[in-house]
Parts: sequence; C-alpha cells; structure tokens
Amino acid sequence: MNEKRGSFKSSIGFVLAAAGSAVGLGNLWRFPYLAAMYGGGTFLIIYLVMAVTFGFSLMVGEISIGRKTGLSCIKAFDKLNSRFKWLGILNASVPILIVPYYSVIGGWVTKYMMVYLFGHDKEAAKDGFFNSFISGSLQPAVYFIIFFLISTIVILMGVQNGVEKVSKILMPILVILTFVVAIYSMTIKGAAGGIKYYLVPQAKYFTPKTLLAAVGQLFYSLSLAMGIMVTYGSYMKKDTNIEKSARQIEVFDTLIAFLAGMMIIPAVYAFSGIEGMTSGPGLMFIALPKVFNSMVIGRCIGFLFFLLVFFAALTSAISLEETVVSVYCDQFNINRKRSVVITVITSMVLGILSALGYGPLGAVKLLGMQFLDFFDFISNSVIMPVVSIGICIFIGFVIKPSSVKEEVECNGEKFHAYGLFYVMTKWIAPVLLTAILVTSILSAFGIFSF
Ligand code: PHE
Repeated sequence: MNEKRGSFKSSIGFVLAAAGSAVGLGNLWRFPYLAAMYGGGTFLIIYLVMAVTFGFSLMVGEISIGRKTGLSCIKAFDKLNSRFKWLGILNASVPILIVPYYSVIGGWVTKYMMVYLFGHDKEAAKDGFFNSFISGSLQPAVYFIIFFLISTIVILMGVQNGVEKVSKILMPILVILTFVVAIYSMTIKGAAGGIKYYLVPQAKYFTPKTLLAAVGQLFYSLSLAMGIMVTYGSYMKKDTNIEKSARQIEVFDTLIAFLAGMMIIPAVYAFSGIEGMTSGPGLMFIALPKVFNSMVIGRCIGFLFFLLVFFAALTSAISLEETVVSVYCDQFNINRKRSVVITVITSMVLGILSALGYGPLGAVKLLGMQFLDFFDFISNSVIMPVVSIGICIFIGFVIKPSSVKEEVECNGEKFHAYGLFYVMTKWIAPVLLTAILVTSILSAFGIFSF
C-alpha cells in the first residue's frame, strides 16, 4: 500500500501523543498493586533505576527504528534485515494478548463508575465488596463486554480522533485529581507507615521476582516491546529530538505512576495494614472506595475519578486494539472489516476467560494462576522480555548502535547519553534480562524457587 504517512507537527505534539499512549491503567492500576506486592520502596527504586537506564535506551531504540524506516513495526524490522521479520511479528502480537484482559480491567472501572453514579459508594467501601463482584456472578463478563464493545464501536466508526481530543482535555484533570487524592491519602490517620513502606527500600524484598515484576511493568507502562513506539517513531519528523522526547515521556509516565502509588499505598496501610499489600490486581478497587468514603464529597470525587480513569483506559484500549486490527490486516492480507471481526472473536474468547477466572472459572488454573494473571504473566514477564532481548541484540549486533546514533543525531544535535545507550543495549540489558527471565520461568514451572 502506498499511503502517505502523516507526521506530528511539533516535538511537543509527538511527546503528548506518545505520553497519551503510555499513561493508562498501567500507571493507575498496575503500578500501585505491583509496588505494594513487591516490597514498596524496593520495587520503586528498582523501577526508577531501570526506567532511566534501560527503559530510556529501549525507547530511543524503538523510536529510532520507526523514524529511520518510516514504517510500522513488522515492515520496519523486515526492511532493516529481512531475517528479523519474526521479531517485528512477535513485537506486534503482544497487544493481541493484552487487549482482552486490559478490557476486563476497563470493565471493572466501568462497574465502579456505575457504583458511584448510582450511589452505592458506601457498600463499595466495605470489605469483601470487590471480591464478591469478581467472584460472585457473570457481572465482570458483562462489564468487560460493555467496555470492549465501546472501544470496538469507536474503531469501527473511525472516531478515534474525537475520543482522543476529549481525552486530551480530561487527562490533565485526571493528573490533578490524582495529585489531590494522593495528598489527601497521605494525611489519613495511620498512613505514615504506608508512606514509609512505599518510599524506603528494604533489602529483604530484593529478589529476582521483584526485578522481573519491575521490568515487566516498565514495558507495559512505557508501551515498549509491543511495536507501539516503533509505529509512533515512524510518524516523527526528522528535526525532532528523539533523546529529549524519550526523556520527557519517561519522566511524565513515571511521575504519574509514582503519584498513583502515593494515592493508593498509604491508604491501604491505614485501612488494612501491611496484610492489605498483597491484595493483587484488585488493590485499587479495594483501597480507593475507602478513601473516597472518608472524604466529605467522596461520592462526587469517586465518580469523577472513575470517569476519568475510564477515558484513560478507553484511549489506551483503542490504540491497542487498533494495533491488533492492523496486524491482522497486514499479516493475513484481509480488509479492515474482516480484521475487526477476527479481533473481536479472539478478544471475546480470551477476555471472557479472564473476566470469569476469579469466579465461575476459578477452578481452572494455568501454571497455578487464574486466566487474567496468566495472560498478564505470559505477556509482560515472558514475551515482552524475549522481545526486548531480541531488540537489544538486533540493535547491538545487527544494525549496530551507531546507526541509532546517526538517526538520533540527524537533526544536528548530539546524542548525549550514547555511552549509556551503547552499554545498555549491547551488554547489560540482554545479559540481565536473560538471567531474570530464565530464573523466573524455572520458578514458574516449579523447577527452582526463590
Ligand atoms: N502503556 C499503557 C498503560 O500504561 C498501556 C498501553 C500500551 C496503551 C500500549 C496503549 C498502547 O496503561
């Protein structure tokens, strides 16, 4: 196809669009529950160090590959070296696994929006409310379908731009509200222990599992290792500074994740103590209703909050689903309509399994995990590390780091962090990631435990 590629008008345009893709449920839902589960401050410090070194390098690498070729993921790898087309395909297939369960969480958000709209906020603040929601009935599947259909309708009608415009206005409000709720959470009686847990690293939590969780979260949150940043890069103008843009996206995304943790973790500690930290994927939905319940106009704030999160989740789900649709179009040479049908069928099947995995399908376990946790584990902790090792080897030894340097510097500015980029992509990241990945897979199969 010979379509003309548009491009972002300005550097800030690129940063805003990429940050819009990066900020989503990963920051608000996933980061806080992982941080709580994997030792608070220990997870936070590992995440921060990885973000500024490895996350940054991988982002620069992906954007450069996209801009150099002007192509979306699969074609970009194919063009640079046809023996690595499979890497492009693997990259692009990650969203196929993520879309379904992302939409299940989107469904949970939709449910809570309704809870606040219809004034059931007092019940939602009670212990056990969330658990009976996900385990008691077919409700999670119904909400999943509602959320998933909304994003599919948006895609079919081709009105993504409209939704994006709305969410551009809503996103800053979400950031401000998160900030306000975070400040409030810190002042709740008994929150101090939670703040300490979140900010002070403790050596006993430093394990390979924590490392893997942090690195998986890094990919998820920054939209890396799934072909998205390559595609975004292909729309970037040659005079935009890649290094600066990558730093800005990373700082912004991390800041929001940090704030979300500040909003949720101290509150968990205040209301449920240290035992509350192990709640897992439900953490946000268990902790926040308690916070809102203790506020003066909690019902309004709660509704506004879940409405804004709903929009953040919707824009992310749309961009993920759009990627899946275009992958099927390209790979099977079919038109968009057919591709949407295939996307809907696969996502419905995988999504319903995830939605009912805590309830009616609770007896079925894969590697000891419920469906949702399993899909999350396979995509974030197995496929994405494999993909990123592949990208590092591809950059380090096939196209060579110097070709990325050339691309970054083609606007006449120096690539300041080239030394870091070089050692990260060529040596440290591939070795470290392989070690983390092998230990964690062995432990998931029970061959080795830590
Ligand atoms: N990074 C997004 C988040 O944190 C998820 C996402 C990935 C969205 C890829 C779009 C594309 O939720």
